[in-house]
Amino acid sequence: MFAMTEVAHATKADLYAQLRTQLGALLSAETDPIANAANTAALLFGAMPDVNWAGFYFLRSESELVLGPFQGKPACVRIAVGRGVCGTAVERGTTIRVEDVHAFPGHIACDADSRSELVVPLIRQGSVFGVLDLDSPRVGRFDADDQAGIEALAAIFVEASDWRTEQ
Ligand code: SME
Repeated sequence: MFAMTEVAHATKADLYAQLRTQLGALLSAETDPIANAANTAALLFGAMPDVNWAGFYFLRSESELVLGPFQGKPACVRIAVGRGVCGTAVERGTTIRVEDVHAFPGHIACDADSRSELVVPLIRQGSVFGVLDLDSPRVGRFDADDQAGIEALAAIFVEASDWRTEQ
C-alpha cells in the first residue's frame, strides 16, 4: 500500500520536494499511462490545499482533447484545441496560469466553484499529447512556484509512463 505523507503544513518548496519524491515512488513500479495518470491526479488532489479539480486531458486526435483520469467533480469530456484554457495550452505548447478564470476569454467552466487554473502541457519527443489541469476555488491560487512545481511533476509522469502500451 502506498502511504501518502501529510504535507499540508509544509512550505511550498517543501511541498513540491515531497511531492516529487512521492510521485517518483508511486510511479516507479508501473508504466501504464492511464494508471499513472490516475495516481498522479489522486496524489495532487489529496496533497494540495485549495484545489477542487486535478486531472488530465489527452489528445485523441490532432484537434481534440478528451478527458482522462481526474479527481473532483465530473468535467466536460471534449475540448477542441485552441478552446478554453486547456486547448489554448495545447495550441501554444506552454503552461497557462490563470489568476481569475472570469477574466480569461473562452474559459470553459466545468465546476462553478473554480476561480483560478493552472494548465501544463504534456510533451513527449517534442510533441504535446495532453495537459495536466489544476483548478482552485481561490483567485490567484497558483503562482510561478506552483507552475515550476507542477511542471516538474508532469515531467516525472511523462518519464515514468510507457506510451507504447497506449492505443
Ligand atoms: N477550465 C478548463 C476546462 C477543464 S475543467 O477546468 C476541468 C478550460 O477552460 O479548458
